[in-house]
Amino acid sequence: MNGDIDVSIRPYAEGDLWLLERTLGNPGQMVHLNGPESIEHIRKRHNKFLAMSADPHAGCQFTILAGSPNAPAGNVGYWESEWKGKTGWEMGWFVLPELQGRGIATAATRLVIDLITKLESHRFVFAFPSVENHQSNAICRKLGFRLTEQASSEYPPGSKRLLRCNIWMLTLPGSGMDTSATS
Ligand SMILES: CC(C)(COP(=O)(O)OP(=O)(O)OC[C@H]1O[C@@H](n2cnc3c(N)ncnc32)[C@H](O)[C@@H]1OP(=O)(O)O)[C@@H](O)C(=O)NCCC(=O)NCCS
Repeated sequence: MNGDIDVSIRPYAEGDLWLLERTLGNPGQMVHLNGPESIEHIRKRHNKFLAMSADPHAGCQFTILAGSPNAPAGNVGYWESEWKGKTGWEMGWFVLPELQGRGIATAATRLVIDLITKLESHRFVFAFPSVENHQSNAICRKLGFRLTEQASSEYPPGSKRLLRCNIWMLTLPGSGMDTSATS
């Protein structure tokens, strides 16, 4: 399944809104995230993703390119987050439904982990997929994240809807700017 398709990433760009509409706006793709986002929310997120790409030290969203020719296949990103006193990068990922199950999200997430390892600004990477999101949990496991615990949190923020999540944590090699962090 893996390794038979070329995967690369580039910063999220102005023309990528359609990708968010096909993933975040699709009820079938959002079953593990408490339902689809509204058009208004997707547009806000589009602007946020564009702004995030300005400074990699504050986080970045990427468009995943896959296949030959390299066509947009989804999104992967990182942003600053915190779990129980540990500051790190949180990651999230989406792949278009027709391209899923071919190793694309795993390969793209691996590329982003390589990038943030080189940044050396945080020691930890977090991912908080729903306990029922088997694909996302498989990605975390395959990329060396450690399953630390489960927790319930409100998602989307302000919705009063709870999501039961796995708390995955990856410790990056050789990074150490988080002086409060312990492994
Ligand atoms: C999660 C998502 C990005 C995965 O994308 P993808 O490109 O299909 O992922 P990959 O192919 O790299 O890896 C998926 C892995 O899950 C595994 N998997 C799939 N269904 C599974 C199941 N029921 N149980 C266990 N593992 C499963 C696959 O076998 C694969 O692992 P493998 O390569 O070792 O076989 C995609 O399903 C998606 O966009 N979902 C909707 C949005 C979403 O939930 N985003 C994540 C929010 S945390």
